[in-house]
Amino acid sequence: MGKLVICDHPLIQHKLTFIRDVRTNTKEFREHVDEVATLMAYEITRDIPLETITVQTPVAETQSKVISGRMLGLIPILRAGLGMLEGVLKLLPAAKVGHVGLFRDPETLQPVEYYIKLPTDVQERELIVIDPMLATGGSAIAAITSLKNRGCTQIKMMNLIAAPEGVAAVQAAHPDVDIYVAALDDHLNEHGYIVPGLGDAGDRLYGTK
Ligand code: PRP
Ligand code: URA
Repeated sequence: MGKLVICDHPLIQHKLTFIRDVRTNTKEFREHVDEVATLMAYEITRDIPLETITVQTPVAETQSKVISGRMLGLIPILRAGLGMLEGVLKLLPAAKVGHVGLFRDPETLQPVEYYIKLPTDVQERELIVIDPMLATGGSAIAAITSLKNRGCTQIKMMNLIAAPEGVAAVQAAHPDVDIYVAALDDHLNEHGYIVPGLGDAGDRLYGTK
């Protein structure tokens, strides 16, 4: 079973409060989402391997550590995943980016894939799938399945807010995938929205309805 990591750093929790707040306007919402994405990228990369190299300081030669050539790929789920992409790229500027376009049918809540474009060497990369919301889990499961169907094997998931139902669904469908969230909320309502959540992430990021 993949692990669920709650990124409970005080800065993340503080900013998440403003993201949840219905009074937060589009500009501030975007800025906070971007900042939380950067902070979460710090947590999600905590286990990437290091190697030791020799470096000459102004004073002496010493052994010091660098990241050991790990190839990363970021996979935002359109639209709302784009709101977190630049924040993650600030910490991982060399990562390649693939896009998966999915929307949730409002009646059935089933994901509909409308676009996919991935780096040519995506199978060799360690991937982070990015989406602010993990609600029923349908979109995340579909995105991860699409990646696995194209040969990808190393996948992590990053969400701002998850519902317990969505976490359980992803863990059941893809037990090899670890999930990183800023908050695990209470439940889904009858429309498939996370309670208390933040509302519709795409609409709040882009000012649509
Ligand atoms: C939202 C969100 C996730 C999905 C989560 O996207 O960004 O992709 O819903 O719901 P699920 O876990 O039940 O699948 P939405 O379908 O609203 O599309 P958008 O990002 O284009 O607004
Ligand atoms: N998608 C959202 O944007 N918000 C939710 O609460 C659930 C799905």
